[in-house]
Amino acid sequence: MITPTDVRLRSFQPADLPALVALEAALFPDPWSYETFASTLHHATTAAYVAEHREHLVGYALVRTAHDHADLLTIGVAPTHQRCGVGRLLIDTLIGHCRHVRVTALFLEVRRENHSAQAFYRRLDFVEIGVRRGYYRHPIDDAIVMQRVIGAVHE
Ligand SMILES: CC(C)(COP(=O)(O)OP(=O)(O)OC[C@H]1O[C@@H](n2cnc3c(N)ncnc32)[C@H](O)[C@@H]1OP(=O)(O)O)[C@@H](O)C(=O)NCCC(=O)NCCS
Repeated sequence: MITPTDVRLRSFQPADLPALVALEAALFPDPWSYETFASTLHHATTAAYVAEHREHLVGYALVRTAHDHADLLTIGVAPTHQRCGVGRLLIDTLIGHCRHVRVTALFLEVRRENHSAQAFYRRLDFVEIGVRRGYYRHPIDDAIVMQRVIGAVHE
């Protein structure tokens, strides 16, 4: 059983892309392609972090900022490393980034059927603020929209 202290968090580097795409493909029914990641990561408004354990990429998270708010684009943790606090570390890092660039609210969409991710987000103080009907394809599903307000100082 790994602990968060066994995991190193750092900014994404282009050399991470193949491992990141492979992990995304293992986690999602409708994974982002290599090209989608490459073009998204190219934008100055995108921030990306990866989690490494013993030189292996075991988690990643991407956020896009726009003025005072940000969107969590995707987050994933390798099945072998889930429920060890890696997801929490990634979200905490994104929140730190958001605070640094004066973002006050972080939004995300999650599949209605993805109950485990919703539980994860609720645990990390995200609240449901709406539903987008038929937002997802492959398979079709609604999106639950969630928000976390980011305080200026301690949180
Ligand atoms: C969602 C995900 C990123 C969570 O990452 P993780 O590293 O397993 O999460 P953590 O270990 O940091 O969990 C933090 C807390 O969230 C909650 N949580 C996490 N996974 C949970 C699950 N499957 N069921 C219920 N609660 C869960 C727990 O309260 C947990 O604390 P605890 O382990 O002390 O009880 C990971 O499960 C994942 O990659 N899932 C597949 C991809 C995905 O669905 N991404 C989100 C798309 S919107």
